[in-house]
Amino acid sequence: MYPERPAGLAFGGDYNPEQWPREVLEEDAALMREAGVNLVSLGMFSWALMEPAEGRYDFGWLDEILDRLHAAGVAVDLATPTAAPPAWFVAAHPDVLPVTREGVRIGFGGRQSACSSAPAFREATARLVRALGEHYRDHPAVAMWHVHNEYGAPLGECYCEHSVAAWRGWLRATYQDISALNDAWGTTFWGQTYTDWSQIDAPRFNHTVVNPAQRLDYARFSDGQHREHYALQRDILRELTPHLPVTTNFAGTVNCKSTDLWQWARELDVVANDHYLRAEQPDNHIDLAMSADLARSVAGGAPWMLMEHSAGAVNWQPRNLAKRPGEMRRNSLAHVARGSDSVLFFQWRASRFGAEKFHSGLVPHAGTDSGQWREVVRLGADLRRLAGVRGSRVRAEVALVWDWESYWALELDWRPSVDLSFRERMDAFYEALWREHVTVDFVHPSADISGYRVVVAPSAYLLTEAGAKNLHRYVEAGGHLLVSYFSGIVDEHDAIHPGPHPGALRELLGLSVEEFHPLRQDETVPLTAEPGTEDLRGRIWSERVRPAGAVTVRAFAAGPDAGHPAFTRHDLGAGTAWYLSTAPTGGRALRDLLGQVLDRAGVSRPRGLPEHLELVRRGRHVFLINHGDEPVTVEGVTGVSVFDGERCDGRVTVAAGAVTVVEETPRPEGERA
Ligand code: GAL
Repeated sequence: MYPERPAGLAFGGDYNPEQWPREVLEEDAALMREAGVNLVSLGMFSWALMEPAEGRYDFGWLDEILDRLHAAGVAVDLATPTAAPPAWFVAAHPDVLPVTREGVRIGFGGRQSACSSAPAFREATARLVRALGEHYRDHPAVAMWHVHNEYGAPLGECYCEHSVAAWRGWLRATYQDISALNDAWGTTFWGQTYTDWSQIDAPRFNHTVVNPAQRLDYARFSDGQHREHYALQRDILRELTPHLPVTTNFAGTVNCKSTDLWQWARELDVVANDHYLRAEQPDNHIDLAMSADLARSVAGGAPWMLMEHSAGAVNWQPRNLAKRPGEMRRNSLAHVARGSDSVLFFQWRASRFGAEKFHSGLVPHAGTDSGQWREVVRLGADLRRLAGVRGSRVRAEVALVWDWESYWALELDWRPSVDLSFRERMDAFYEALWREHVTVDFVHPSADISGYRVVVAPSAYLLTEAGAKNLHRYVEAGGHLLVSYFSGIVDEHDAIHPGPHPGALRELLGLSVEEFHPLRQDETVPLTAEPGTEDLRGRIWSERVRPAGAVTVRAFAAGPDAGHPAFTRHDLGAGTAWYLSTAPTGGRALRDLLGQVLDRAGVSRPRGLPEHLELVRRGRHVFLINHGDEPVTVEGVTGVSVFDGERCDGRVTVAAGAVTVVEETPRPEGERA
């Protein structure tokens, strides 16, 4: 259920009027109208004002704000303020304060200062949310509910006494029988056999390595506790206002590790994502694109909401670089290109006090006589012109396998190399595809992947039997699968699949691995060359591959596996499974190898475009985002340019740093660029 209001694309952001005197609020309404703001998130951190003492609710101040917003034509995404429990509550229930893995109980004074498992927190949450829901169930400004804020960030796991009690309950429900738990966790190793549930603690800090299966289950349990806290609120709100969608904002699909968003998405009416650029990272718009593609994928391809990003600098990175002119527009429209039906920001007006006073807002400290405000007003106008994009879909021919459980498991302690990293491989493959102008979806290993021409598994260390079978079926039916090293190694309990690596994928890939040969830091090994290709080297990983059906496309030319396969192909059924045993480095190395897979699978990509020209198709619209300093002419686009109404017949020029969106004129299939 996507929010019905506002019509068109939503534009606005977090609004924290409690920080401002009345005159400013009056000005806010006028400025929101000037910029075309049509949706704000309200009340996110206002528990202390909504319930100044236990059971005493005060919504009078908020009524006035909702009425004013409604009069100004601004819809409200009304938040439950549970991410900021008030001082009186924490003083009365100090046991709700979360405890870190190292055993530190955090203090009051920040936010997110209550454990999702703590009974007092759950009770207070239910009472407050019911009072809020009852009070606002019929208010015409309310268009949707926004539960909490960024579950799992910054603390995904809590180690307090309530968490441990809930954990034991979770383990009983999951394993039923303690011997099943002992088997799953392999507790015969290091003599950890449990004879009673009460002996089991959270995997708290230990001077050596804690049982990885225990840690993996704790990650699942902890994420589930947050989901329960969310569902508690959602169920009350659904009961009171069945016509309103309920969501919570993800703490950045790509950057919050502790939340399994495949599971979360099932609980939400609409997926809402936050994304902040890593300001100093070169080409950080690629991370943005990845976040947006992942948000769309967890939304099942349906439109989703960009709930937060920033108009300018943030305040929590080592060096908070301001956005360059045009960058906020490019960022905003890139999210829309990749499926968002909203462009929302943290926050409306930059705060004068508190922890985030150096964070940008739509209304900066400099006021409205500023480049930033002019860009905000322009963006509002752009989004009105793009209203027709709403609800349309992005289609991808290539998918990347992304599984949070594998992410968690791979990055536990004592792996064959500290350089093995889920995100490092995922980012590398995503970036290579982005630079090839290929739009990708992300998929869970057990999802229906039959519609993709190519599926890539950059880091599928943990792969269940079911996941492996799914990949097998995909290839047999004609799919092209590319698997990167250290995939298919362990099952859902972090136990190695029986036999030689990669146990879950041996048959599918037509090979086995005799021994891992991780490389030294900064060491690279050459691969055999193919005529006309760049010199290719691998880093991080090398291993002794023994083909059993697979053919060698490239071999290691030196290093511990000289003469043995580095890149293989296995034709199976109607499809092909490729395997890459190293991290190609330098220039176009990974792109060249990927290119072979894409070509064989018939994935078309626009030729002759400079890398920095981002091209994404959404429904009838083609988004052209020029991240470079020179104008770019794109061939093969025919239609009407949305922002200036100009016709383009087969070619369009995008100025340096600009964004052009063309509503394409329908043409017969096969004529696309
Ligand atoms: C988000 C958070 C917002 C604000 C923002 C600053 O993670 O949800 O409330 O703190 O970061 O960038």
